[in-house]
Amino acid sequence: MNKPTLDHIGIAVKSLDSARIYEALGLTIDHVETVTTQGVRTAFLSAGDANLELLEPTGADSTVAKFIEKRGEGIHHICFRVDDIESHLSRLKSLGYRLINESPVPGAHGCRVAFLHPAAGNGVLIELSEKS
Ligand code: CO
Repeated sequence: MNKPTLDHIGIAVKSLDSARIYEALGLTIDHVETVTTQGVRTAFLSAGDANLELLEPTGADSTVAKFIEKRGEGIHHICFRVDDIESHLSRLKSLGYRLINESPVPGAHGCRVAFLHPAAGNGVLIELSEKS
């Protein structure tokens, strides 16, 4: 099993127009995709080995909409790319960490993703992602 690598930092925004600050820094939007299962429209900006993922809620019932309502816009999650998501999930579960997704769900870029409960990460929402 390879060591996980930082894949992206997810940032909750009211509108993907918020990409402008990162474009002003010289980054460019590489990919825009609506992930219906997560209720978000995402924009990815490559920043070296890792990416920024801007998350705009698609509706009021989206978990990102609820996040913005409660805590305002800002850093929402960090994501590690892993090569065997199931074995990571079963090991974390056996170690007693709370998971939001006990098995992978479809994410952006056709990846299989799973979220750990923020309580497992000292308030940080951690996403694991495996490329298909
Ligand atoms: Co993400």
